[in-house]
Amino acid sequence: MKVLMISPGFPADMPHFTRGLAQVGAKVLGVGDQPKGGLEESVKQSLTAYHQVAQLWDEERTVEDVAKWLAQHRTTVDRVECMWEPGVVLAAKLRAKLGCPGLSVEQARWFRDKESMKQVLDAAGIRTPHHYRAKSKQEVRDAVARIGFPAIVKPIDGAGSADTYTLRSADDLENALGALKHIDEVSVEEFIEGEEFTYDAICADGQVLFQNVAWYRPKPLVARQNPWISPQAICMRRLELPEISGGVDLGHRVLEALGQKTGFTHMEWFRKPDGEVVFGEIGARSPGGRLTHGMNLSVDADLFAGWAEALTAGRISQDLTKKFNAAIIFKRAQGAGDRIARVEGLDRIMREEGQHIPLVDLVPVGAPRRDYRQVVTGDGWMIARHPDLGETLRLADRLANEVLMVAG
Ligand SMILES: Nc1ncnc2c1ncn2[C@@H]1O[C@H](COP(=O)(O)OP(=O)(O)OP(=O)(O)O)[C@@H](O)[C@H]1O
Ligand SMILES: [Mg+2]
Repeated sequence: MKVLMISPGFPADMPHFTRGLAQVGAKVLGVGDQPKGGLEESVKQSLTAYHQVAQLWDEERTVEDVAKWLAQHRTTVDRVECMWEPGVVLAAKLRAKLGCPGLSVEQARWFRDKESMKQVLDAAGIRTPHHYRAKSKQEVRDAVARIGFPAIVKPIDGAGSADTYTLRSADDLENALGALKHIDEVSVEEFIEGEEFTYDAICADGQVLFQNVAWYRPKPLVARQNPWISPQAICMRRLELPEISGGVDLGHRVLEALGQKTGFTHMEWFRKPDGEVVFGEIGARSPGGRLTHGMNLSVDADLFAGWAEALTAGRISQDLTKKFNAAIIFKRAQGAGDRIARVEGLDRIMREEGQHIPLVDLVPVGAPRRDYRQVVTGDGWMIARHPDLGETLRLADRLANEVLMVAG
């Protein structure tokens, strides 16, 4: 099977998915805007061919360019994949041009546009936050008048909680309108109080072959607004827990309504204090925030290769029994400097609990600190895992509270 992979080397997890495809025996044709020489060694080794395009996000041009490249080499492809949010529609346009199965352009647009997505789900009777699309200040005000406070306003195609504002009063609304001047189109929604989770799935031919729920501690928007927090995402071992199973059911209904049959999806949902489960958003791609690594450590398997096998053979032959809860903890350096000066508290925790901490990947001392608003992993990430949820949370909280990265 020949798979055309968009941006096989960037961002973070793409080299793993590219390697996964090669590992299950697929021929991988890469298309991206990185120069070939800049690709990681593992990516180069996994690719059968690579084509660098000038403007990857100029969709019409890239589609023509890729079609021409394939014709020149007298080759065809069986599937087109993109696990990076901005390329989801591009992948669908390439599928249409090259006659490959998978999400159509219309479906891909539902996944990219937070209003169309919710309209399709509303029509299927799925509980979404009360919502409106707005293109002007007046439309935002009108939407808020209909929804009432608290409300939330966010870019129609946003990412990483950027430019997202909670509105609890008329003052909040006017402040947000000022701050949103550079955004052409927004989604205005009822603000859902409660806990926030993911529902991540790998499907083939309409069957869910693997599913995961991660619990965000705290909600991503709160984490973005509070730089002192070390955000966590807990991949849950037991999806049958009453607090979780409603989200799994919701996930199945959402996939069905959007006609998602094959591939990785990443959905977010809320559980209100009264137990009601509400849809948040969904992407036709793997999750960011190193969540796939957390899932791998919760099942002791390789879901990069698992996804590739699902795509190419319609099954996953690895044992995917959940053995652990796996907590991912992101660190943000404290202090005013622009380089990491020291890391405190980690050695002690590793001595005491190291057998439960299979992964530590912090920005090294002396290296520049990172901007957590640009990179979800911030100044580094760690994973703790344990079969017991209470123990997992205790370990995660120790890593969040006792490990201090100082920028000096
Ligand atoms: N209706 C809502 N009610 C409460 N909180 C919300 C609502 N919509 C968004 N949020 C908060 O804002 C965050 C960002 O919103 P959303 O997930 O829609 O956008 P995003 O920026 O695309 O996120 P991602 O980082 O997952 O790409 C959510 O994770 C959630 O914490
Ligand atoms: Mg989100």
